[in-house]
Amino acid sequence: MVSDVNSHAPDGQPWRITVLRNRHGMVATFMDWGATWLSARVPMRDGSVREALLGCATPSDYLHQDAYLGATIGRYANRIAQAELKTLNLKLAANQGPHQLHGGPEGFDKRRWQIVSQSDSSVHYRLDSPDGDQGYPGNLIASVTYELTEDNTLAIRYQAETDRACPVNLTNHAYFNLDAHHGDARQHRLQLQADRYLPVDSAGIPAAPLKAVAATSFDFRQPKRVADEFLADADQQAVKGYDHAFLLNAAGDITQCAAGLWSADGALQLSVFTTAPALQFYTGNYLAGTRAREQESYTAFQGIALESEFLPDSPNHSEWPQPDCWLQPGDIWRSETRYRFTAH
Ligand code: BGC
Repeated sequence: MVSDVNSHAPDGQPWRITVLRNRHGMVATFMDWGATWLSARVPMRDGSVREALLGCATPSDYLHQDAYLGATIGRYANRIAQAELKTLNLKLAANQGPHQLHGGPEGFDKRRWQIVSQSDSSVHYRLDSPDGDQGYPGNLIASVTYELTEDNTLAIRYQAETDRACPVNLTNHAYFNLDAHHGDARQHRLQLQADRYLPVDSAGIPAAPLKAVAATSFDFRQPKRVADEFLADADQQAVKGYDHAFLLNAAGDITQCAAGLWSADGALQLSVFTTAPALQFYTGNYLAGTRAREQESYTAFQGIALESEFLPDSPNHSEWPQPDCWLQPGDIWRSETRYRFTAH
């Protein structure tokens, strides 16, 4: 990694790379461009070290991929239908046909974040997003803090403030592959504590009410190999695999485990905890051709994303049973997600 550490980002400044370590030998790496999580190296029981994250070989490679590898996503993760905030009759910048995906063409993943502070175990980034940025109302100040704790957890804490009401949905777009050689991630086992998921159309736009996972291929309430029922029904076929938000039973209780993911060999486990109401489970259906760290490019399904967030297009759906995604002036928007790695 970082052989071009001295090259420059599009703003002419160097990339700033931050390395966090704990006493157990776990190492997590970040860059200020996109406040991006670059790498998670986890010590294994046999003394080896496993890279749990997909990523690029160099910082500048991140400019040439559209998979949002490890990036901080904002102002609004996932899609806003017709790039429109209907209650305000306001058009946003579209970047997926008529829709907006992951905050627009110049989303927070494509920005230089300021490093506010850092230590051996944490780094705190801040981004000032002006009124009208990607069409959104209000001057927004966003911050994200990554902390590596002694139990091999990467805790991500988001905060935002605004001077005009604006929907906010900050998340991280890490793709995990817990296998030693990053084979097909559909060989992982997944557990998702969610009774309901949100069906979408082929553009990823919510197309029907929340649906019970029971008796569908979306039932991961008991651990299941992702490959077992892959493309088994029309909802998956519409988007070439899993690419859906699951409404979490934990309902924002970060002490409850929302999801578990196990490598094919069972030697590495990821546990996800979050204050967010939903997790977007994405099997990397469109990853093919993305520049890769250990190989020239990734193939489809080589990584799994579990993005903590509000349901897609929430600003236009006040009927869904989740907290309000609109941040009001004077309030502070907060969200926290913990990714804990356990070697067996
Ligand atoms: C979305 C996918 C999209 C991917 C990468 C995910 O969060 O749900 O539809 O292709 O991000 O851009």
